[in-house]
Amino acid sequence: MCGIVGYVGNRAAVPILLQGLKTLEYRGYDSAGLAVIEDEVVKIIRSQGKIAVLEDLVGERLSEATCGIGHTRWATHGRPSDLNSHPHTDCRGEIAMVHNGIIENYLELKEFLSDKGHEFTSETDTEVLPHLVEHYYQDNLLAAVSRAIKDLRGSYATVAVCNKEPNKLVAARKDTPLIIGIGDDEYFFASDITALLEHTRKIIVMDDGEVACLTPEGYQIYRDMQPIKKEITTVTWDAESAKKGGYKHFMLKEIHEQPWALQQTLKGRIADDRSGVRLPEFSLDKIQLQRIEKVTIVACGTSYHAGLIGKYAMEKILRLPVEVDIASEFRYRDPLIDKKTLMLVISQSGETADTLAALREAKRRGAHVVAITNVLGSTISREAHDVIYTWAGPEIAVASTKAYTTQLAALYLLTMYLAEKLGRMKANELQALIEDFYRIPEKIDEIFASCEEQIKNIAEKNLKSDDAFFVGRSMDYAVALEGSLKLKEISYIHAEAYAAGELKHGTLALIVEGVPVLALCTQRALIEKTISNIKEIKARDAHIIGLCYEGMKEVPQVVDDTIFLPDTNDLFAPILAVTPLQLLAYYAACARGCDVDQPRNLAKSVTVE
Ligand code: G6P
Repeated sequence: MCGIVGYVGNRAAVPILLQGLKTLEYRGYDSAGLAVIEDEVVKIIRSQGKIAVLEDLVGERLSEATCGIGHTRWATHGRPSDLNSHPHTDCRGEIAMVHNGIIENYLELKEFLSDKGHEFTSETDTEVLPHLVEHYYQDNLLAAVSRAIKDLRGSYATVAVCNKEPNKLVAARKDTPLIIGIGDDEYFFASDITALLEHTRKIIVMDDGEVACLTPEGYQIYRDMQPIKKEITTVTWDAESAKKGGYKHFMLKEIHEQPWALQQTLKGRIADDRSGVRLPEFSLDKIQLQRIEKVTIVACGTSYHAGLIGKYAMEKILRLPVEVDIASEFRYRDPLIDKKTLMLVISQSGETADTLAALREAKRRGAHVVAITNVLGSTISREAHDVIYTWAGPEIAVASTKAYTTQLAALYLLTMYLAEKLGRMKANELQALIEDFYRIPEKIDEIFASCEEQIKNIAEKNLKSDDAFFVGRSMDYAVALEGSLKLKEISYIHAEAYAAGELKHGTLALIVEGVPVLALCTQRALIEKTISNIKEIKARDAHIIGLCYEGMKEVPQVVDDTIFLPDTNDLFAPILAVTPLQLLAYYAACARGCDVDQPRNLAKSVTVE
C-alpha cells in the first residue's frame, strides 16, 4: 500500500526521497510523487505509473532542496492518475502533504472547506488534509497539523511541508504506521524500516495520536501539543538484507532464504538436547494456561493459511478446539471469545488493518492475545500481550514465502511449548518431535538441490493453461490453499484449492484433458483416500503433479509427474511441501513474463480495511 518518505537535513533531498520510495516499491503502488522546498517555494512533481517515470520527470531539477516528502500511492479514493497522485496542496500551493490511510469523513470536511472557499482538484480523500491545515494555519505548521487532526475520522500517516517554514517536516499518525529515522543532523520519516536502512538503524515508532516535528537541528514528538519523550530502537536488519543479492527477483531470494530464516526463528528457542522449547515471550503460566478453553487464530492472506496449519497441529497435539478466522470477517460476527480464549494474531507486517482491528476486539473481550509477526515495533507487536517474532529478515516480494514458513515454525514452537506446559506429550515423544523439527531447514536445502530444476521444467511445460487446481486432505489441504494463492497472485493463472474429497461435489466438472492438478500426498494416514481422489481426477485426463515423500511407491504410479520431498514427520510436512509450490508459482510467473515481485493490483502491507 501507499508509502511515505520524508527527509530534512543538509544533503540533497531528492535522491534520498527517490531511493526511499524505490525501497518502498514492494508495498504496491500505482503512482508516485514528491514535494520539496526550494527557494522558499513548494515544488511538486508527481505522476501515475512507476517511480522510474517520476525519476525521469525530476531529471536534474530540484537539486538544491534539502527538505521534502515523497509518496507512492495505491489508489483507494479515485483512480490512479496524475491529479490524484500525492502530494496534494492547499489553495495557494504553500502547504503540501502526503497521506497513507483513509479519511472517512472527507466528504463532510470537503463540504465544510468548500463553503469557506477552498477549491479541490482531485478525487481523493487526502486532498482535504492540506486545505484543513491551511484553514488552521497561523504561521505555525505544527500547531495547524495538531489542530487539523482533531477533525479527522479514519486512519492516517501524514507528513506536511510548508514554504513559510522551509526546513521543517510535521507528521501525524493514527492507525497507519509511521517511523522516524534518526541520523546525524538529518532526520527521516518513513512508512517502514526498509526505506531508512541505507541511512540509519536508529528509529522511533510513532504511536496513534502523536505529532512529530523534524528539522536539521533535531526532532520533537508531541501529544496534544505537549512534548513527550520516546525510546529510540536500534534495528538489526541491514541494508543488504533488503536488496536482491544477485537473485533475479526478491521472491526467489526469499524462497532460498527459508532455511536461514527458519534457523533464525528456531535460534535460542530449542534446548540443546532438544528436550523442550523455550518461549520466554509467552507470559501465561501453567495455571493461567489450564484455564484456556479454546484457541482462536485470526489473520489475512498467507498468514491466514499459516493459521490453518496451526489449527491442525494444535488440535492434534493439544486436544484444544482451535478456530481460524479471516480477520476482516472476525470482528463482524460478534465472535465468541472471552478471557478463556487464547487468541493468536498472525501478521508478517504487523500492520494489517483488519488483523489489528481483530486484535483490539479480542482484547476488549478479555482474551489473551499473542502476536506472531516479523516486524519489530509494528503496531500489532506493540498492542498484543505477547509477541513471538519470526526473525525472518525483511520480506520484500509481495507474495509471502519466508514469512509464511517462519510463521509455521513459530506455530509449531508454540504448539510444542504448550504441549510440554500442559503435559500433553510424554518427554521422549516431545524430544523426538523436536528432533524432527530441528532438521527441517536442512531438508529445504535438499529440496532446492534435488528438485528446483525439475520444478522449473514442470512450471514451464505444464502450467500454461489458464486454470490449475490444488488438492489435498487435512494439512495438505491447507498447504494446497497457500500453493494456489501463490500461483494466482503472481502468475495470474486462475487457481483453486480443494479438499481432495470435496472435488467431486462440483469442481470435478471443471477437470478436462490436460488441466494441471497439484496433488499433495504427505499425510500418510490419508494416503489411500487421497489416491482414490487422484484416480477420479485422472479418469478425466487432467495432468497430475504429485507431491510425496521419497520412497513412496503408490503416488508416482497414479500421477504424471512426481516431486519428491525428504521424509519427515507428517506434522511438519507443510513447511517442506510449500517450497516446491512456491517455486512452481515463481517459475510459472517468470515463464508468463509477469512482474513477480509486484503483481498487479496487490499490496504487501494492507493498512486499510
Ligand atoms: C497482503 C499481502 C500478503 C499477506 C497479507 C496479510 O495481501 O500481499 O502477502 O499475506 O497481506 O499480511 P500480513 O502482513 O498481515 O501477514
